[in-house]
Amino acid sequence: MPEPATVTTEQPFDVPAERRPRHVAVIMDGNGRWAQRRNLPRIEGHRRGVNSVRNTVEEAARLHLAQLTLFCLSSENWKRPQRELDFLMHLLEQYMIEERSTILKQNIVVSIIGRRDGIPAATLREMDETVRLSAANNGTRLCLAINYGSRGEIVDATRAIAQQVKDGLLSPEQIDEKTISDNLYTQNMPDPDLLIRTAGEMRISNFLLWQISYAELWVTERCWPEFEIADLHQAIRDFAGRDRRFGGLSQI
Ligand code: IPE
Ligand code: MG
Repeated sequence: MPEPATVTTEQPFDVPAERRPRHVAVIMDGNGRWAQRRNLPRIEGHRRGVNSVRNTVEEAARLHLAQLTLFCLSSENWKRPQRELDFLMHLLEQYMIEERSTILKQNIVVSIIGRRDGIPAATLREMDETVRLSAANNGTRLCLAINYGSRGEIVDATRAIAQQVKDGLLSPEQIDEKTISDNLYTQNMPDPDLLIRTAGEMRISNFLLWQISYAELWVTERCWPEFEIADLHQAIRDFAGRDRRFGGLSQI
């Protein structure tokens, strides 16, 4: 059980700890649409989206969730204009610097999943520094998916397993579901229990395909910059009301 975080809240929360998801994953979408609807440049949407990240991370720690995973940049997002990508990298770097002290105070452990190539050295440096400094914490785990794609992750895992077979460390018959899990970027992490997606789209977009096998899905029409603590609470409330059977029969 993570250590209590130091933040206090203004909003009471009515779902008891044992009914809360252990791991919440979020597809943060709709920054561009939020901005365009207001006649603002897309990057304004990203800038505002950082506030939602900050609030969601702090609330996850306050609720003692074991893990929060945020889809920050997909391996497909490189198709965007260079100016937008540069701004996203800048925001990421700033977030790593500005939130460091809060992350440390709130006992949050940061990890990053995704491929490092394409990310500027300065951004990588700040990411690595936050990961390093937070490693001594033992509270809520914040996993940031950056240049992440689930199919690429499965390819990397397959290569690693094939290499182990080639090296004689593993036989094909020994490969089971745990072997796959243990070779994904998410090794040692629990699977998400709840997957939240903002901006209304009903798709998974190459996010944690293996890991979300039994996650409960929760989609809101609200764009990511509009996502509030009250929305996180509602998602968790709805999750607590669902009957998870994992292919078995209802316990109720
Ligand atoms: C999500 O918002 C943020 C990132 C993918 C970095 P989008 O930028 O995808 O916003 P829309 O989908 O264009 O509205
Ligand atoms: Mg989008």
